[in-house]
Amino acid sequence: MTRQILVTAALPYANGPLHIGHLLEHIQTDIWVRYQRLAGNHCTWVWADDAHGTPIMLRAQAEGISPEALIEKVKASHEADIQDFLLSPNVFHTTHSEENRELATLIYNRLNDGGHIVKRTIKQLFDEQESMFLPDRYVKGECPNCNSADQYGDNCEKCSATYDATELKNPISQVSGKTPVLKDSEQYFFALSKFGDMLKAWTTSGTLQNEVANKLKEWLDSGLQDWDISRNAPYFGFEIPNAPGKYFYVWLDAPIGYIAAHKHLGDKEGFDYLDTWKPDSDHEVYHFIGKDIANFHCLFWPAMLENAGFRKPNGVFCHGFLTVDGAKMSKSRGTSITARTWLDHMSPEYLRYYYAAKLNDSVTDLNLNLEDFITRVNSDLVGKVVNIASRCAGFITKKFDGKLSTDYPAAEQNNYDQMISTQQIILDYYEQREFGKAMREIMLLAEHANTYINDAEPWVKIKQDDQQQAVQDICTVSLNYYRLIITFLSPVLPELATKTEKFLNTKLTLESLKSPLVNHSINAYKPMMMRVEDKQVQAVLEATKESAGPEAAAPASQAASTQDIPPIMDTIEIDDFSKLDFRIACIVDAQPVEGADKLLQLTLDIGLEQRNVFAGIKSAYKPEDLIGRHTVMIANLKPRKMRFGLSEGMVLAAGPGGSDLYILSPDEGATPGMRVK
Ligand code: 2FM
Ligand code: ZN
Repeated sequence: MTRQILVTAALPYANGPLHIGHLLEHIQTDIWVRYQRLAGNHCTWVWADDAHGTPIMLRAQAEGISPEALIEKVKASHEADIQDFLLSPNVFHTTHSEENRELATLIYNRLNDGGHIVKRTIKQLFDEQESMFLPDRYVKGECPNCNSADQYGDNCEKCSATYDATELKNPISQVSGKTPVLKDSEQYFFALSKFGDMLKAWTTSGTLQNEVANKLKEWLDSGLQDWDISRNAPYFGFEIPNAPGKYFYVWLDAPIGYIAAHKHLGDKEGFDYLDTWKPDSDHEVYHFIGKDIANFHCLFWPAMLENAGFRKPNGVFCHGFLTVDGAKMSKSRGTSITARTWLDHMSPEYLRYYYAAKLNDSVTDLNLNLEDFITRVNSDLVGKVVNIASRCAGFITKKFDGKLSTDYPAAEQNNYDQMISTQQIILDYYEQREFGKAMREIMLLAEHANTYINDAEPWVKIKQDDQQQAVQDICTVSLNYYRLIITFLSPVLPELATKTEKFLNTKLTLESLKSPLVNHSINAYKPMMMRVEDKQVQAVLEATKESAGPEAAAPASQAASTQDIPPIMDTIEIDDFSKLDFRIACIVDAQPVEGADKLLQLTLDIGLEQRNVFAGIKSAYKPEDLIGRHTVMIANLKPRKMRFGLSEGMVLAAGPGGSDLYILSPDEGATPGMRVK
């Protein structure tokens, strides 16, 4: 019977571009989905953007657009990346959809009707200047456990303690830079603590990798806490029914987005998503996720599903994190590579193959070693695989009018059957997500095919009149090996598979592999895959580094030509101008910023207070040369949270950027705090 399989990958947040870390999961999912389809199963991949939550709201504010406009813009960029990385979801929806609003409401109402939602008043940190309750990641302070400074409101990076944001010592709002106050707040909790036994049974029933089940056991054994599923306004999300000003926490409606995307697809294609999601469905459901979000998918989610009358997944497949050259991805090293930057310089299939060659079913991290990447792609794909076709195709086209032999050479049938007999091993590896092992098996086939060609020497035989049939046979055998190898590789390399279908003039299916291709015309061979060059990798790293800085580096120019002068911007009203609070500032300290090659951290005295500002002027100034100088800053710019800390304003500088940048200085006599009018 055809298996009915539903697959999901984690929903990417709609506040930034996809990068090669995301792609590890996306490629893993896509290979598994394409393998299922190749194996003849009915496999649907439903996917969406995760569009709610505070970071998205704040990001939209920072860009000066509405959250709706932001998530629409990001969705379009994700869709372009998905297409160009040859990912094959059946639908890419958004959690900010009517289907998701309906389903989140339905599930919440069912949980509430079942008595599983409890209201509790808790104290939360409140930013009085911004009139908002502060999510954990928007407060920093000293760790209540080890007193380390500059720790987030949920856990300490130094001692790994987890705590409530209210326990932080000397908390500071990362939104306004002010000290927040404690304020009572009524929140809605899902009574997760009631479902420990059910979850103990479910997490150990073969649905999870052992490593994940063991990790979750620690939580389950220490007793589950009820889960706060509400957030206070302002929040970008769905309002909770009958609870004005309260919104579903993004993690409540995000996984429901899987079902909503499926419903969206069903409405379009005319099937009922409930056939899959009803409790007794015989369809299979699998989630691909990173190990960091296992608790949401393996504890909260199954408990929600079960208590709202939906089925639970058959499996949650966790993967590890990506490292590049052994380290966490880093913008300054150029390894925080976006999908688009990769595509600007290299084929998506190189990355797809490299990930496949290194993936297995465990949660260990995967290292993209760039030197190994180049070697492996060139030696396996170009040297071993594509080489089979390029060595034989020309003879068939030029000497045999594009035709393969009428019959498969009898002496070779046995070898062909042996090659085919590895099919089940390879398919099993795909099924178990042991893609690395599958790639090794396939490469053994490719090595075998190359040895066969080397030994048969068609290029020698073609010069001998009585060996013409032998050459046609050798090429027929080799191209049949090629067909078989590319069919097995097609879940990983769909574009190469499509090119091969054109070249061999046949569809690549497991069924058709049963008998070799003979008495058949093929098309002229066109190069199928180029070697990857070191300079392409370098170009990706350079482009990533460049996009990391606040401004692109520009060469210093002596006398600017009018072409270098940017055009005057649109006119504004005097009222617009008077909103800007420029102040004279004294630079009392200037320091380099670790991990940022273009930034300096400035401490600015503006009379009434001191400000911390990150300025992109490192290429133009030595920090020590700035100390004591007076300059001009904009003092009422909303503080901006940067990776390195809070930036509380901006200094004014002229010039295109890089070393060609000049901070403004007032005439002597101007003192810190004076307003610039
Ligand atoms: O961690 C993340 O990137 C989340 N946006 C994943 C959500 S997966 C699902 F639950 F929606
Ligand atoms: Zn600590």
